[in-house]
Amino acid sequence: LSSIRVDVSGVEAGTQLTVKWLGKPVFIRRRTEQEIEDARAVELSDLPDKNAQNRNDMALDAADQNRTLDDAGEWLVMIGVCTHLGCVPLGGAGDYSLEGGVGGWFCPCHGSHYDTAGRIRKGPAPENLWVPVAEFVDDTTIKLG
Ligand code: FES
Repeated sequence: LSSIRVDVSGVEAGTQLTVKWLGKPVFIRRRTEQEIEDARAVELSDLPDKNAQNRNDMALDAADQNRTLDDAGEWLVMIGVCTHLGCVPLGGAGDYSLEGGVGGWFCPCHGSHYDTAGRIRKGPAPENLWVPVAEFVDDTTIKLG
């Protein structure tokens, strides 16, 4: 498996970087406190897909803490491919959602809504957006693969 290193030093909270890896878009989002709070307030029982879909450990449940790269939950890294039929979801366009604004991801193809942790909440997609094998190799560099 080929791996790449991504410099995330320029990524501000509330924005995301999209890189291409193995032919697919990978979203690297630095979440705001509000996004983290919104995601952590969700009960597991409200999630259609209860698996974290985290390729670092497929035994994890879909709790927000199990999907982020750091314990604080600031860094969310996901394959940017809708788990329905593979369109690329739009960031900041879902209705699961920051207070007073939009958050999460929305797939325009058939209307799947993902929350601020990239978990499917509404629409036809069967699974949460996948978290790829990834890790921080230093303070500002994420290795994918
Ligand atoms: Fe995303 Fe169908 S491909 S909802």
